[in-house]
Amino acid sequence: MTRTVRIDVGAGYDVTVGPGLLDTCGGALAPLCRGGSAFVVSDSTVAPLYLAQVRRSLEEAGLRVSSFVFPAGEKSKTLATLGHMLEAMAEAGLTRSDLAVALGGGVTGDMTGFAAGVYQRGISYVQLPTTVLAAVDSSVGGKTAVDLRAGKNMAGVFIQPAAVLCDTDTFATLPEKWFRDGLAESIKYGILTDRELFFRFDGLDRSEMPELIARCVAIKGEYVHRDPLDCWDRRYLNLGHTMAHAMEKLSGYTLAHGHAVAMGTVMAARYGERLGLTEAGTTEEICRIYSKNGLPVSCPYDAGALARAASMDKKRTGGDVTVVLIETIGRCFLKKMPVSELYELARLGLEG
Ligand SMILES: NC(=O)c1ccc[n+]([C@@H]2O[C@H](COP(=O)([O-])OP(=O)(O)OC[C@H]3O[C@@H](n4cnc5c(N)ncnc54)[C@H](O)[C@@H]3O)[C@@H](O)[C@H]2O)c1
Ligand SMILES: [Zn+2]
Repeated sequence: MTRTVRIDVGAGYDVTVGPGLLDTCGGALAPLCRGGSAFVVSDSTVAPLYLAQVRRSLEEAGLRVSSFVFPAGEKSKTLATLGHMLEAMAEAGLTRSDLAVALGGGVTGDMTGFAAGVYQRGISYVQLPTTVLAAVDSSVGGKTAVDLRAGKNMAGVFIQPAAVLCDTDTFATLPEKWFRDGLAESIKYGILTDRELFFRFDGLDRSEMPELIARCVAIKGEYVHRDPLDCWDRRYLNLGHTMAHAMEKLSGYTLAHGHAVAMGTVMAARYGERLGLTEAGTTEEICRIYSKNGLPVSCPYDAGALARAASMDKKRTGGDVTVVLIETIGRCFLKKMPVSELYELARLGLEG
């Protein structure tokens, strides 16, 4: 039932996916913690559910455990929370040979990774993702961040985790909205490179999640291996994200990321189809699979607003943006376009 995917970047690390991993995490993590102290970070929703279990396992493995809990939600992903976390690490007496442990979703993982990257100029950290999105995306690849007033993920460092343990039993408590949100990114990997994976989401059997997550992680791992610092090839992972980021911004960040990615991917498909770049019928097929998994496929914003918001995206280089377009389900390509073309992407990407 348990699967392991090796991520081949830097020293390399294993992503282990399966049930029951929190109960045994101490045995897996103790060898990564020479100093003997683990600092577990979690949010106010996840901590009451899983922190005691993780603490018990780490202590049974002989580690000293301290913890830091912050209020759940994206609104906590700030420099202020990061500051409190770093102070708590110092108060706990954490040294360079100790270990930070991120127990939670992408918000927890992104901030813990950032703190680990800068605390005493860098200590090791591990990810224990408890959302589908964190499992298939944010826990792997070493991007960490906090939000600034100017936008999401505007400050951060690249630092790869020493290990990722994804206990799929934790999804039992994950609210349905967040479960579906992570499916959007999972389906994205199928559209990118794996047609068979894409169709596994047609009538998803949730007992197969460990296998599907491992496949998504393996795909992400390939991109991360080829492009650790997100300079070229890793941009493929941004399928659907140009318009998704614009929608998130327009919603004042109340729209969940995966839901925005679903709508953004549909827009990329429709734009490509209308220009004859994407195989006919692709948009319909993608809409069908997203809808079947409870994800939205029509965007509530107009083309002008989307284009304006998208043109401020941090991913642009000078006057150009690179967007990911779909050739057919399972194969995508990058297209560089002037920022002015974003309006056409939005206009042709919308229905009607
Ligand atoms: N670093 C990267 O490469 C990367 C990639 C994608 C997204 N991200 C970031 O990830 C964040 C989104 O991640 P997320 O969707 O996991 O958000 P999140 O961490 O806020 O988790 C979503 C909600 O689910 C709750 N939750 C988490 N696990 C639970 C569980 N097992 N049971 C019950 N409740 C649970 C959390 O408390 C939270 O309220 C964003 O900040 C985004 O920028 C980073
Ligand atoms: Zn994403």
